[in-house]
Amino acid sequence: MKPWHTPGLTSNDITSESIYLRRRELIAAAGLTGIGLATSSTAQAATLKSIRNAAFVATDKETPFASASTYNNFYEFGTDKADPAKTAKNFVTTPWQLRVEGECLKPRTFDLDDLLKLAPLEERVYRLRCVEGWSMVIPWIGYSLSTLINAVQPKGNAKFVEFLSLADPKQMPGVASRFVGGGLDWPYAEGLRLDEAMHPLTLLTLGMYGQTLPPQNGAPVRLTVPWKYGFKSAKSIVTIRLTANQPATAWNKAIANEYGFFSNVNPTVDHPRWTQATERRLPESSVFAAKRKTLMFNGYDQVASLYTGMDLKRFF
Ligand code: MTE
Repeated sequence: MKPWHTPGLTSNDITSESIYLRRRELIAAAGLTGIGLATSSTAQAATLKSIRNAAFVATDKETPFASASTYNNFYEFGTDKADPAKTAKNFVTTPWQLRVEGECLKPRTFDLDDLLKLAPLEERVYRLRCVEGWSMVIPWIGYSLSTLINAVQPKGNAKFVEFLSLADPKQMPGVASRFVGGGLDWPYAEGLRLDEAMHPLTLLTLGMYGQTLPPQNGAPVRLTVPWKYGFKSAKSIVTIRLTANQPATAWNKAIANEYGFFSNVNPTVDHPRWTQATERRLPESSVFAAKRKTLMFNGYDQVASLYTGMDLKRFF
C-alpha cells in the first residue's frame, strides 16, 4: 500500500515470515505459554463461542492462525507486515465503546458486551484479498453488520456508512509519527454504500479462529467485506456513521487514482503499479509458488446485483 512499496515478495517478507512461523512451531511443540515470545496478545485471547454458518464457509484451505496473526496491515502500529503483532501487543481494548450515529432514529453507544449479545455469533470462513496481491482464508466470528444498522433504525436519507478506527497516539506509534505510520490522515476511515453495508456477507467481526480478535487483526471489533480489497475492512472501529453523502476514505484521500471508493476485487482492473489478475495465497511464500488466479468479487458472485448497470472499470 505504501506509495513506495511494490507488492510481491522481498527477501524480507520471506525471512520474517518463516522465522516467525518457526518460532511459533517451537513454542507449540514445547507446550510453552506465558514466557518470552509467547506473552503476546494471543496468550491473552479469550475463547469466543460461535456456530459455524455453512452458507458462508469458503471451501478453500484455511490459512494457519500463525500467518494470519503475524502478517498484517495495520498502519497505526507500523507499516511493516511484522510490526502490528509486535507493537500492538499491549493495545488496550477493554473497555471499548462503539458509537453508531448519523442519519438514524436511534443513535446509540454500544459497549463490547452489547455487541457480543446483539445477535448469535456465527463462524464464517472468508477469503481475504489484499490490494497488494496476497490473500488468506480466515475463519471469522461475528454477525451481519445489517443487524447493528437495523438496531439504530436508518432514516430514508441514509445512503452511505462511514467507519472510523481508533486513532490514539499514546498507544499507536503509527498515529504518533508519520515515519512509523506512513503519514495517512488519521483516523483510518472507510466507507460503504448502505446497500453494500446491509448485504448479508458484510460481517461485523468480533473474533477469529475461535477466539477474540488479536490486537493486530483489529481488536475488539472490525469489519470484514470479503468481496472488496482488504483495506475496505476497517479495524478497531469506534464510530459507525450513517450519512447522506459518500464519505471520504483514508487510502482514497492518500492516493485517489490507486484506491477507489468501491475497490471491489476485480482481476480485470490492474492497480496502476501492478497486476490484479493473480494473487499469492499465504502462507505460500516461495517465489516459485504458482500464482493463483484472482476471481471477480473475490469469488462472491452473489454481490454482482449490487452493481448492475455500473461500469466497474470506471467505478473501481
Ligand atoms: N484498518 C485500519 N484501521 N488500519 C489499517 O492500516 N489496513 C487494511 C485493513 N484494515 C488497515 C485496516 C488492510 S490494507 C488490510 S489488507 C486488512 O486490514 C488486513 O487485515 P488483517 O491484518 O487482519 O489480515
